[in-house]
Amino acid sequence: MGKNQSKKTNLLFFNNETTNNDLSIFDRANKKYTILTYGCQMNERDSEIIGGILEGLGYQPSEDITQADLILFNTCSIRDSAERKIYGKIGEIKRLKNNNPDLIIGVAGCMAQKDREKIAKKAPHVDFILGTNNLHKLPELITRAKNSKETLIDIVEERAEIENEIEENRSKLTTQKIKASVNIMYGCNNFCTYCIVPYVRGREKSRPFKQIIEEIEQLGKEGVKEVTLLGQNVNSYGKDLGENIDFADLLAAIDNIPGIERIRYMTSHPRDFSDKLIQVIKNSSKVCEHFHLPIQSGCDKILRDMNRGYTTSQYAILVEKIRQSNPNASITTDIIVGFPGETEEDFEETLNFIKKIKFDQAYTFIYSRRSGTPAANLPNQIPLETKKQRLQQLISVQNEISLELNKNYIGKTVEVLVEGTSKNNPEKLTGRTRTNKIVIFSGDQQLTGQLVMVKIDKAKTWTLEGKILKD
Ligand code: SAH
Ligand code: SF4
Ligand code: F3S
Repeated sequence: MGKNQSKKTNLLFFNNETTNNDLSIFDRANKKYTILTYGCQMNERDSEIIGGILEGLGYQPSEDITQADLILFNTCSIRDSAERKIYGKIGEIKRLKNNNPDLIIGVAGCMAQKDREKIAKKAPHVDFILGTNNLHKLPELITRAKNSKETLIDIVEERAEIENEIEENRSKLTTQKIKASVNIMYGCNNFCTYCIVPYVRGREKSRPFKQIIEEIEQLGKEGVKEVTLLGQNVNSYGKDLGENIDFADLLAAIDNIPGIERIRYMTSHPRDFSDKLIQVIKNSSKVCEHFHLPIQSGCDKILRDMNRGYTTSQYAILVEKIRQSNPNASITTDIIVGFPGETEEDFEETLNFIKKIKFDQAYTFIYSRRSGTPAANLPNQIPLETKKQRLQQLISVQNEISLELNKNYIGKTVEVLVEGTSKNNPEKLTGRTRTNKIVIFSGDQQLTGQLVMVKIDKAKTWTLEGKILKD
């Protein structure tokens, strides 16, 4: 995006917000910001929104944290390990503040929502704490933080006005993108017993259908090729809108948007994955054949205690239906080991289940006790050593399966959206198949953003390699 366009964003933003915030464009001249993002794609999208708001205020991004005038932590509470890492980093940057008292430090995201007082107490060098439901308050907080010695806290428990959402989602980064994420809903009503998300992200709230379509139409015009629709449980989309629109309808509508070549979504709950949705995906040329369906455990007793709302046999039937309608489908999952009460036999059931289903990939986690969630109070918490052993065992079983399935690609020609040069090998290009497999291959950097055909000649556990076909 050119200079003019970023100016336009400024104007747009200032028209909406300046009235009583005392924001001055001159005040922000040459200021730099760094956002440290932890957690899921929702947080990544929020960081883009925050970046857009900051760039609208005249801040420029800086990868070098020591050069930043504003450092913002966009935090995650999903596991204890994530929180500890973030506290460590917040502590570390205290020295930057000592060197530069004008430095503004903010904490946003799920930890802010959950532990506001604790953060203010543990890290008094933090200037402000901003919740997940009111990102539009950021400019006001920055202004106030300049004149305040105390840590400011601005958090609301539930998302409020739609106007704020429009404003937030309209904020733009200045970088050109091939792939973009679009929020379709916020929050979660599922209350899986291990999970903190419903407490930090509030209740489910769908964005209006028209607003989502308009945003994606705009992205299509700007050259974005792939959109990922974000929600903790996208299958619930529309339930709260009262317009008789569901997630399948939304996908069908997005399928017609010019410029967009691929549609992905994240995350779909196995319980609510309807036959209608399977049909829409089958009939769509743009919705990718990748199904991320977190199973969490392959043991029915544990699934019940997790409050997941499905059994392993219901899950297996769903996978069967998906594979029947989409023979090329890749299926990935999330699994937690060491949920309270998980016996060795229960864990064996999970191993057997993943061998039976044959997931393309599994994201595996050690159960982390989140205080305030029901599972935190269950008896029979599993010792860390046992959890670690189970995780290793699970990973090694899954890795074999991933490799086996990836080998099926050898000799096949696949469509790849070129994302740029590979991080691990700058001589090569990287991209993804529709089934979300990473492919590494030689080619001209100019191909970035284009769909190319690649013949696969090598398979590894996490990646495929191949040669690009010229025509
Ligand atoms: N809404 C998504 C999950 C979002 S959290 C869904 O239900 O599919 C991403 C993953 O983190 C979860 O699927 C789960 O596997 C893991 N997770 C959540 N809470 C956890 C906890 N307390 N300990 C360990 N892993 C957890
Ligand atoms: Fe957490 Fe369950 Fe909601 Fe996913 S569906 S965010 S695991 S409560
Ligand atoms: Fe973490 Fe919050 Fe996402 S807890 S996983 S950043 S919704």
